[in-house]
Amino acid sequence: MIQVENLTKKFGNVAAVDGVSFNVENREIVGFLGPNGAGKTTTMRVLTSYLAPTSGRAAVAGFDVVRNSLEARKRIGYLPESVPFYPEMRVREYLSFRAKLKAVPRKQRKQRLDEVMERCRVKDVEHKIIGHLSKGYRQRLGLAEAIIHNPPILILDEPTIGLDPAQIRQTRELIKELGQDKTVILSTHILPEVEMLCNRVIIIHQGKIAIMDTLNNLVKDQKIKLEITGNINDITETLKQLPGIKNISFTQQDLWYVVTIELSNNEDIRDIVYQKIVQNQWGIREFKTERTTLEEMFIRITTRE
Ligand SMILES: Nc1ncnc2c1ncn2[C@@H]1O[C@H](COP(=O)(O)OP(=O)(O)OP(=O)(O)O)[C@@H](O)[C@H]1O
Ligand SMILES: [Mg+2]
Repeated sequence: MIQVENLTKKFGNVAAVDGVSFNVENREIVGFLGPNGAGKTTTMRVLTSYLAPTSGRAAVAGFDVVRNSLEARKRIGYLPESVPFYPEMRVREYLSFRAKLKAVPRKQRKQRLDEVMERCRVKDVEHKIIGHLSKGYRQRLGLAEAIIHNPPILILDEPTIGLDPAQIRQTRELIKELGQDKTVILSTHILPEVEMLCNRVIIIHQGKIAIMDTLNNLVKDQKIKLEITGNINDITETLKQLPGIKNISFTQQDLWYVVTIELSNNEDIRDIVYQKIVQNQWGIREFKTERTTLEEMFIRITTRE
């Protein structure tokens, strides 16, 4: 649904986005992560034709975002980072105006408006002046505007920022629901949000993709921790022979050793480790796996230069 090839966007001499390539398949929900200034919003602005790329290309639903931007934009619902509004308009009036611009057929407009206002929880303020809305309501109105024409693709730049906890939960549920038949790219700094919503994660750092993988692959079990007793040299030497071991370290507590086995791939070798323990008659009182959290991974990637 979305193809990005070697995309670069420079502001002066600075490359905000630097040779980025990725694809998003139909009905995927992709989380776009990265520290402040990484290039997330810039990438989204290129995808939605608000900014022209310096080089490279991007296509949405098969339409080039530069040469065919009108067709591309018809298929996108975009929630920008700061939502531009007409502060003197009323909520319903504004959405009706946007629906007209986005070619929602006249006959369906009223029903569509009511439905979307209901879903985004702005129905109770439909006659209020936008300039008088609280921040959270404005954010929800932005989301309503993004989906008013029922686009197959959603590009959401920090969709839950500024919402209260109940609304955060409600908005996540809405995004999840929308994601069942839409393709979604969302940026956020709330990592648990990514774990709740996304199939796949792209971490962007200094304008480049640092990591792109499915959430399952990223946070698979990657360490085994044992509390074990026996000859520690035998233990580490034996375990080192096993496949997929990156590193083994241990600390001692009286007769017991806490052994940490770091794995270099996602293969599950717990049963083999257990067999070795039984064969060698080592004593064991704890055997557990540990996951690398998305947060650990994010910090590791984005704090190294
Ligand atoms: N219009 C502009 N003119 C000049 N520089 C810009 C412009 N827009 C963005 N930049 C720069 O491009 C870089 C990427 O910014 P961008 O807004 O894409 O980051 P981001 O990943 O969305 O960050 P955040 O998490 O803070 O929203 C930054 O260094 C920013 O200062
Ligand atoms: Mg941004």
